[in-house]
Amino acid sequence: MKQNAASPRSSDRKRHDIRDLLANLIVDQKSTFWLAAFLLLLTGASEGFSIALLIPFIGLINTADETIDLSPPAGLSGGESFSIGLGVFLLAFLAIIVIRAALVHISALTSARLVQDYVKNIRMRLFDSIIHAKWSYLSGLRNADLYHAMTADIDRIQATVTVIMELIKSSILILIYLSLSLLISWRLTLAAAVIGTLLILALRPLRRRASQHGETYTSGRREQSRIISDFLDNMKITKAYSAEERFSKTLEQSMTGLRETIISFQRLSSRVNFIVQAASALALCAIVYLALTAFDMTAAGTLAILVLYFRFAPKVVQLQAHAQTLNSNMSALQNVLSHMRDAENEQEVISGSQPGSLSLKKEIRLENVSFQYDGGKQAIRGASVDIPANKITVFAGATGSGKSTLADLLMGMIAQQQGTIKIDGALLDERTIGAWRRSIGYVPQDPFLFHATIRENLMLADQEADEAALWTALRAAHAEKLVRTLPAGLDTIVGNQGQLLSGGERQRLVLARALLRKPALLILDEATSALDWEHETAIATSLKALKQELTIVMIAHRRRIIALADNIVILQDGAVIEQGPPKDLLMDGTGYLSRLENSESG
Ligand SMILES: Nc1ncnc2c1ncn2[C@@H]1O[C@H](COP(=O)(O)OP(=O)(O)OP(=O)(O)O)[C@@H](O)[C@H]1O
Ligand SMILES: [Mg+2]
Repeated sequence: MKQNAASPRSSDRKRHDIRDLLANLIVDQKSTFWLAAFLLLLTGASEGFSIALLIPFIGLINTADETIDLSPPAGLSGGESFSIGLGVFLLAFLAIIVIRAALVHISALTSARLVQDYVKNIRMRLFDSIIHAKWSYLSGLRNADLYHAMTADIDRIQATVTVIMELIKSSILILIYLSLSLLISWRLTLAAAVIGTLLILALRPLRRRASQHGETYTSGRREQSRIISDFLDNMKITKAYSAEERFSKTLEQSMTGLRETIISFQRLSSRVNFIVQAASALALCAIVYLALTAFDMTAAGTLAILVLYFRFAPKVVQLQAHAQTLNSNMSALQNVLSHMRDAENEQEVISGSQPGSLSLKKEIRLENVSFQYDGGKQAIRGASVDIPANKITVFAGATGSGKSTLADLLMGMIAQQQGTIKIDGALLDERTIGAWRRSIGYVPQDPFLFHATIRENLMLADQEADEAALWTALRAAHAEKLVRTLPAGLDTIVGNQGQLLSGGERQRLVLARALLRKPALLILDEATSALDWEHETAIATSLKALKQELTIVMIAHRRRIIALADNIVILQDGAVIEQGPPKDLLMDGTGYLSRLENSESG
């Protein structure tokens, strides 16, 4: 997948991305951008003006006269000459310097504002595009890569945008210096321009190498993020398998590689700096020589050219350095843009979504639903299922038979390629899906809790829930006693992914969270698998009582939970092979349920 930075396609893409970045910068912050550009222009102009004033100033040194000759500079002939008093001249000079300082200040602030707004926009755009992408897309992504794009890469984009503003500033100044020097001597300017162009051309290959370094740097940093986050996500497993050394070694190798990249980038930068400085000193000698011999300029004109030169040369060096930074940071921008484009192509369509939540009065009906994972297997095949309201429906079947996939379809987490899902006769589609999801309480197969307090974890389901509602939900999930005995109660912090609690405690809290939502449909994916007999029975009793208010779908393997069912759906290899009330399924004595019955009692 890696592309050579120098290949035409990659450089095309790079140009395209720079254009994109600039277009966004100009379109998103139109007024700020033009204001910033205008201020930069004014700053440049005032700087040019203050230098231009130096010429008559220098002329002053040779005369005892107290008036200043403001006739056009030496190189330009035919202008009329006029003079002003020294006092006025000095005042004007002072005013220009003060105005310039003020402009520099305002312009720096405006540019900073522009850069910060841009960075905020792009970070939020990336975040929003990801947060609103389809689950089927998100489930295949690597968290560490996204995290890296949203943090480190965006920080580099910030550096890039700052550099772009600096580039604009340097370019304006260079243009102004060039026009000034044209006024003084067009021949000298031409000579300087030729030397400058040659220098820029000569440095092209080095700039290209800088951008290759940038790509290596980006992939190196991404690799490190992956190693670190893999470790952080699996600290316990790492320790249990004594894999600490392996993580440590991999990280060290990656860091060593990155160190080489950075040093070699530094070497490249210093080399470029050296070349630019030596070449510009050479150019200086040539210019002075030409000015005094071949072009026969006055001392004041030559001095002015020298002053110009000493301002001009660092700008050219800066321009070169900025171009290099820009090149080396482009890969960060490309990475962010490619994540953003991918995610934007995978947006979940919830258009004209109705507000609030739905109620479920009669049934959920799946008709001939088929689903295949992206480039993966056909996980559900032509399933037709009826889920009656205010009843408990159990999905059963062997591992990998498609139970969790069917639950995801039911929630609208993933979209079937074939068939329909109807809620009380209304099609589950982009208009109903938002409200439908707000009506569901879901307990996933692996209960997830944030590193936060129990209260915060529960309130994810309902931001407005009061203390009483929290306790009611905890009671129904048989977690009330558990929370009451914790020293900090609801304000106990549960640790990374809830690992300060036991598996069964976690399951009960996650169930309480789902109940807090007062859902129309409660989906439990093996939600009691970690519970002991006593707790499971207690929860079974609560669930039976809850039937009055809501519809329950449970995925379960154990007989005790299956026994709660009013309706059973048995899956095999993605197809529904049996469904109906449990007593019907037990009748013929050969089905899944009969086999389960025999194996667990035997
Ligand atoms: N995100 C995914 N991408 C590709 N294939 C998947 C994905 N998730 C599940 N599958 C595959 O789809 C099939 C059904 O998976 P599913 O998780 O629905 O099974 P299940 O019945 O819930 O199994 P279990 O009882 O083990 O939880 C499996 O073969 C699984 O490998
Ligand atoms: Mg499952």
